[in-house]
Amino acid sequence: MELGSIRTKIEQELSSVKDLSSLNQFRIAILGRKGLFSELIERLKSLDKEERRNYGREINELKLWAEEKVEELKTHFEMEEKRRKELASWIDVTMPGAIPIVGRSHPLTQTLEEIVKIFTSLGFSVAEGPDIEYDYYNFEALNIPKDHPARDMQDTFYVRPGVVLRTHTSPVQIRTMESHLPPVKIIAPGAVYRCDNDISHTPMFHQVEGLMVDKHIRFSDLKGILTVFIHEMFGEKTPLRFRPSYFPFTEPSAEVDIGCVICQGSGCRVCKNTGWLEILGSGMVHPQVFRIVGYDPEEITGFAFGMGVERIAMLKFGIDDIRQFYYNDMRFLSQF
Ligand code: PHE
Repeated sequence: MELGSIRTKIEQELSSVKDLSSLNQFRIAILGRKGLFSELIERLKSLDKEERRNYGREINELKLWAEEKVEELKTHFEMEEKRRKELASWIDVTMPGAIPIVGRSHPLTQTLEEIVKIFTSLGFSVAEGPDIEYDYYNFEALNIPKDHPARDMQDTFYVRPGVVLRTHTSPVQIRTMESHLPPVKIIAPGAVYRCDNDISHTPMFHQVEGLMVDKHIRFSDLKGILTVFIHEMFGEKTPLRFRPSYFPFTEPSAEVDIGCVICQGSGCRVCKNTGWLEILGSGMVHPQVFRIVGYDPEEITGFAFGMGVERIAMLKFGIDDIRQFYYNDMRFLSQF
């Protein structure tokens, strides 16, 4: 074949090569071991010496030219490929980001933190005691005799004889007074356990105990502190009342009710049509309790109170099933 027309043919074919892989195919067909040029060189063998030299030189030149063309195109396609990759990985910094789900405190933690904040602002410090408690601290030292209904097997989880899961935070009163002389002004938040499970009871729930002991502490101090607490917690206008009650470790004792936060006192299902909701137990520390911890009840007086954190959270947030706090359902939790 005429070398001039081979050159034209190569040029034509090269112009239709559009990417690296077709360029590679082309290179193999033209410059490969069994390609066009190998074939042309093979044909030289049949020529005589003079012709072979001239023709051979021309073929070589043409081959060098073709190699150069292929190399040029290769660089071109490689640059193109690189640019395409750069474009694909380009980041648009003006695009709105994906907003991560932000965690938050559990509603019970929020409620507990608020209770603690109110009392610490009133000068109370935070004390703690063990969840697994001696019968002595949970009952005996709190003036709860052996045959008291609160010791019923139905209510108390017994760990072993003489050891229980505390049924209230009141044992922290005893532990604190045993190790501190008056004045004592503490709150004691923590988990408590009772063998109970329904829409308004879980086997584990939380209480905050309060204890203020000194010379000359009176029932009016109890009323004052709890009134401030309730107004801070439920709002300035929340009505409250102290209703006579009984606890073995306080005398006199009172339960505190607040005006129903659901119906504002007009009567509803939540307050059982009374217009009032019980929120805590309280009273003046019983002289017998003082004697047990070695305080002189002739000289020292004080008050104590205990409230359920779940109950307060339910009233504050309008939740009607206590078990909601423990399902860990995100649809519930994300509302707080
Ligand atoms: N411990 C009592 C209860 O669990 C509440 C309470 C605490 C009452 C302190 C009076 C004083 O019901």
